[in-house]
Amino acid sequence: MSPTAIPGVERILFTEEQIEARIREVAADISRDYAGKTVKLVGVLKGSVFFLTALARHIEVPLKIDFLAISSFSDRSGSPGVVRIAKDLDEGIEGEDVLLVEDIVDTGFTLRYLLQTLASRAPNSLAVCTFLDRHSRRIVQSPVKYRCFEIPDRFVVGFGLDHNQLYRNLGCVAVMKPEKQ
Ligand code: IMP
Ligand code: MG
Repeated sequence: MSPTAIPGVERILFTEEQIEARIREVAADISRDYAGKTVKLVGVLKGSVFFLTALARHIEVPLKIDFLAISSFSDRSGSPGVVRIAKDLDEGIEGEDVLLVEDIVDTGFTLRYLLQTLASRAPNSLAVCTFLDRHSRRIVQSPVKYRCFEIPDRFVVGFGLDHNQLYRNLGCVAVMKPEKQ
């Protein structure tokens, strides 16, 4: 089915081909920067899974993979940014070169929490690679070393990103129709 024929989808932002080409570029940057090291990719479930596996296949240094899951919610005052770990990593990261892999960095609250949590475990290095970056909505500044695409202030789905848990398996990234957001 063509993505624009999928209910709720307004238009394609990045095609499968554009995504594949850009991931190869970012993987080449990572391979160069981590030459001589073993990198541990830490994926944030579930959104980053599609990106992480595509990226990993093009990274040319030895790598390990681990995952964690978080849940984020607003507190009673309605302020965002309350995050907790719902599933922790399987193994420790002390002394390792950790690359945190995110689907999207939006306000930055999630990223700040994850970086604080992981940094407290004494990795040798800690950096961030995000598939999408919506910098216009950033509230908390957090360091993003690698990004595939900057995106406009619209809700997007596909390539791992969901709307009510649907659309993750789209090969492209698409903008949702406003009434669906
Ligand atoms: P934040 O940076 O703490 O605001 O949270 C980012 C998280 O919000 C991401 O990891 C996604 O789970 C979710 N998110 C933000 N924007 C979108 C979007 O456009 N589509 C799908 N999920 C999104
Ligand atoms: Mg996420």
